[in-house]
Amino acid sequence: MFGLYYNFLFLTSAAVITALSPQQISSYSEHCKRSSPKFNKCMKNALQLFVNDLNKDVIDGETFDPWVMPELPLIYDAGASDKMSVTLLGVSLHGLSNLVIKNVRSNLKDKTKLRMEIDLFNNLMYFNGNYSAELTSNTEVPVAAEGTFNITLVDLKGTLILKGRTVKRNNVDYLQIDRASIKPELGNLYIDVVGENDPYPELTALVMSLVNQYWRLVYFEALPIIEEGLDEIIRSYVDQALSNIPFDIIVPA
Ligand SMILES: *[C@@H]1O[C@H](CO)[C@@H](O)[C@H](O)[C@H]1NC(C)=O
Ligand SMILES: *[C@@H]1O[C@H](CO)[C@@H](O)[C@H](O)[C@H]1NC(C)=O
Repeated sequence: MFGLYYNFLFLTSAAVITALSPQQISSYSEHCKRSSPKFNKCMKNALQLFVNDLNKDVIDGETFDPWVMPELPLIYDAGASDKMSVTLLGVSLHGLSNLVIKNVRSNLKDKTKLRMEIDLFNNLMYFNGNYSAELTSNTEVPVAAEGTFNITLVDLKGTLILKGRTVKRNNVDYLQIDRASIKPELGNLYIDVVGENDPYPELTALVMSLVNQYWRLVYFEALPIIEEGLDEIIRSYVDQALSNIPFDIIVPA
């Protein structure tokens, strides 16, 4: 049953940062000199200040906490005829600004092999929004359901490992992230779903109670997909935020 999650296709829409300007972003880290023996400590503080500001109003009421995401379609193709599609609408993630930067380790000496490890912890985050789901098969009438959901993540921790290098444009070095990997560990997870005109409320309740009991199995199975999804999302954000700021301005020599 849990194998299903392997086949989910995450169609993440292109992430857009309209909110933060290059000057704002580099202002957090510009005092951290790569050559300083205290670089990692400086970076830890800079990242923490950046995170703490994620709940501030940036532009036009846009914030990263809560962070409202575009429509998120998840499609499960069970084979020739059966298909389940779930669309999450108006999803918002709450709690990014609670993130604690526990530690930073880095090696930025070789510009062809940059590496930074960031230990993260968050005691409480949650996603909520609306969902609509449809199950179609050749043999039966399509089944549709919709409602609201709330997924609470408790005691999330992990190490974000950023690997990259610098690339030259007009003789200036810019940062390029090649891989952003994190395997988040979860202390606990609760899912709350309220269906509207749910054709099978008992089934929904049963599935939810199973998920809340056995989410560790599901999560473990889904982890490779979550990892890939996060890599793509984090890289695209970092890219858009930093690709026009010279490397020596983000972290001066
Ligand atoms: C979610 O559903 C509620 C009630 O059905 C509705 O009022 C709200 O606008 C919906 N939100 C989004 C983002 O679709
Ligand atoms: C969702 O869960 C969070 C954390 O458990 C809670 O604070 C929040 O009120 C819940 N929201 C809804 C709409 O149920």
